[in-house]
Amino acid sequence: HDYDLLVVGSANADLVIGVERRPAPGETVLGSDLAVHPGGKGGNQAVAAARLGARTALLARVGDDAHGRLLLESQREAGVDTGGVLVGGAPTGVALITVDPSGDNSIVVSPGANARLTPDDIRAAADLLAGARVVSAQLEIPLETVAEVARTRPPGARFVLNPSPPAPLPDDVLAACDPLVVNEHEARFVLGASAGPGPEDWARALLALGPQSVVITLGADGALVADGRTDAVARIPSLRVDAVDTTGAGDAFTAALAWRLSLGEDIATAAAFAVRVGAAAVTREGAQASFPTAEEVSAL
Ligand code: RIB
Ligand code: NA
Repeated sequence: HDYDLLVVGSANADLVIGVERRPAPGETVLGSDLAVHPGGKGGNQAVAAARLGARTALLARVGDDAHGRLLLESQREAGVDTGGVLVGGAPTGVALITVDPSGDNSIVVSPGANARLTPDDIRAAADLLAGARVVSAQLEIPLETVAEVARTRPPGARFVLNPSPPAPLPDDVLAACDPLVVNEHEARFVLGASAGPGPEDWARALLALGPQSVVITLGADGALVADGRTDAVARIPSLRVDAVDTTGAGDAFTAALAWRLSLGEDIATAAAFAVRVGAAAVTREGAQASFPTAEEVSAL
């Protein structure tokens, strides 16, 4: 294989403002100076994996503009193979992000070029897909494009999906997931009214929808792993850290998980490593700028 991980997904310029509190509808608040960070759930995953040492490629679309160049630069600096990043068709995606004093964020994404990453683009990238041990996707690109990845990836290429932002998933896409990676909000969306009282119930209910495995991230409470092969549900404890900015921590978690799975690690062990990567990411500002190296993870 040429790559441990191929990430198929979005690349956004993150326009970030710190706020004391979020404005109510019709209200104006003053915030901090503006920071422009490379982001996007796909771009974030690729940088996170490469920084840890994974052989990583990104399949994405950016605009032919300054934001697009910023994003490509961040990918290359981290060591991501950007040969699969398509340029043009619409302006680069933008995320408007507010971060509050507890480090929590609210995000509005304007997809821009991400919305123009099509199933045809996936078919044209068959070589890239053929070279990957694990293929990871999220939902800031069209669902039909993600479905094309799930359906046409080579047998043996493991498919990891973080359905964020959440959207209804076709049965065959759900069945391809190994694992489906969700936070609490995404788990509730996928389960709808059938969501039981606690995360253990959600994990079992999600498995029943078809994925080979399920990982639920629980923020400061760590993660929950459910493996359909054994029906075992395991709790992965978190690390105690001071949160500065949680933006992209979930992407770093998923990328670390996907990478360790590509090395043949079992899912609970991979998730325990990924929890540490996510914890490191929340201690620093920004998304990609905050992702740790393998040495920094061991030092935690
Ligand atoms: O998951 C965090 C990311 O979500 C940000 O980088 C932003 O671009 C949005 O895509
Ligand atoms: Na961060």
